Amino acid sequence: SAMFGTKVAVIGAGYVGLTTAACLSSLGHQVVCADVDREKVDALSRGEATIREPGICELVVDGLASGRLEFVLGASAAVSEASVVILCVPTPMGATGAADLTTLEFVVAEVRELLPPGCVVVNKSTVPVGTAARVAKLIDRADVAVVSNPEFLREGAAVHDFLNPDRIVVGSADRDPAPARRVADLYGKLDTSVLVTDSASAEMIKYASNCYLATRLSFVNTVAELCEYLDASIDDVTLGMGYDQRIGKSFLRPGPGWGGSCLPKDTFALLRTAESAGSDFALLRAAIETNLKQQDLVVDKVRKAVGGELAGARIGLLGLTFKAGTDDLRDSPALAVAGRLAAEGAELFGYDPGVHAPVPGVTDGVRITGTAYHAADGAAAIVLLTEWPEFRALDWARIADRLDGRSVIDTRNLLDPLVVAGTGLSYQGI
Ligand code: UGA
Repeated sequence: SAMFGTKVAVIGAGYVGLTTAACLSSLGHQVVCADVDREKVDALSRGEATIREPGICELVVDGLASGRLEFVLGASAAVSEASVVILCVPTPMGATGAADLTTLEFVVAEVRELLPPGCVVVNKSTVPVGTAARVAKLIDRADVAVVSNPEFLREGAAVHDFLNPDRIVVGSADRDPAPARRVADLYGKLDTSVLVTDSASAEMIKYASNCYLATRLSFVNTVAELCEYLDASIDDVTLGMGYDQRIGKSFLRPGPGWGGSCLPKDTFALLRTAESAGSDFALLRAAIETNLKQQDLVVDKVRKAVGGELAGARIGLLGLTFKAGTDDLRDSPALAVAGRLAAEGAELFGYDPGVHAPVPGVTDGVRITGTAYHAADGAAAIVLLTEWPEFRALDWARIADRLDGRSVIDTRNLLDPLVVAGTGLSYQGI
């Protein structure tokens, strides 16, 4: 039977940590969430969400009001009464492409002696296979179990994904069922499949899932390129493929390449892991290379659209974030394309509903405009790079008036080609 009201400590109030803390408190658990950033802790304690995610603010406010959610400064302040300690600290890509575990190891060293006897330490960060075992060694206490419990949240749908998971994966050393059950019970109210396995397999499930998704998109983007060559429609092709239940309908949309804070980092990391294991993951390497080539293909299209010479050409960009519904610019394919256009001397004006000011070191080379129409002013071409639904509803006649050239390049196949062409513009999708 499911156990509720478990005392949980969540270490890290970033994207995954805050979502985990807020959602677990909404499921009835008693949650203390720690972060090293005082301003963040203060803002959260006042009920202000520090990440942009639908539903998160309400959960934080409700959690604080119910007394089931509390924010504290520093990991040590959170763990003393916890029966489950969930580590949600960043594991960025290190210099070699492998995940950097400095923060994780630092937190483990900080709390190891403070952990109450019998508690379970859960690793939720995406970490190389073998990390749970390494953390168990670092903690080195017979009375504390270490479990791996990867998350599969999408940015922009994190609360929804947490509360409606496709599966819960729990990996424990030697598949020890007792600590695994304690962690699985945290999600007892949710109707979903629970897979209990060893910790290395749980860690691999996370990497294999993200790398599979990335490979799938590289496959689709290459089929899209072939479709252009053969005069076939990629949208119809993926629709037709998706009816096959073994393939499924989702994650088949072509674009300017995949990006974000997870797919690029995790594909590189697994490639490195394979290398260290003496194996060549040629398929994954090809998926990464194909993704870079995809950006070249977009740049080629734009160059052609402006008559072969990007130097001095004014280009309007629609969308800068790595996908719609977020303000996240990390590893954004839109910015990668922008960087290549700028390197060839194009003058870039960009509009994104999630980006209201330039971000130094990130959006350099793109002048941020307040509306899509301003991005179009005097431009030789408009390039749509992120699939914000509102771009479909733009007044394309107005854009046509303000453009200097005639080209609209839609790298997400988002717009209605007939509407755009109806204004006299020349529409090109993927
Ligand atoms: C991804 C995974 O989807 C989550 O399951 C996982 O938990 C998360 O990484 C993580 O490891 O934390 P996310 O980074 O939020 O989630 O982004 P996705 O929605 O997966 O999109 C990734 C990229 O693929 C974006 O650039 C997006 O535009 C692109 N994409 C996605 C396509 O080009 N076509 C599609 O059909 C779907």
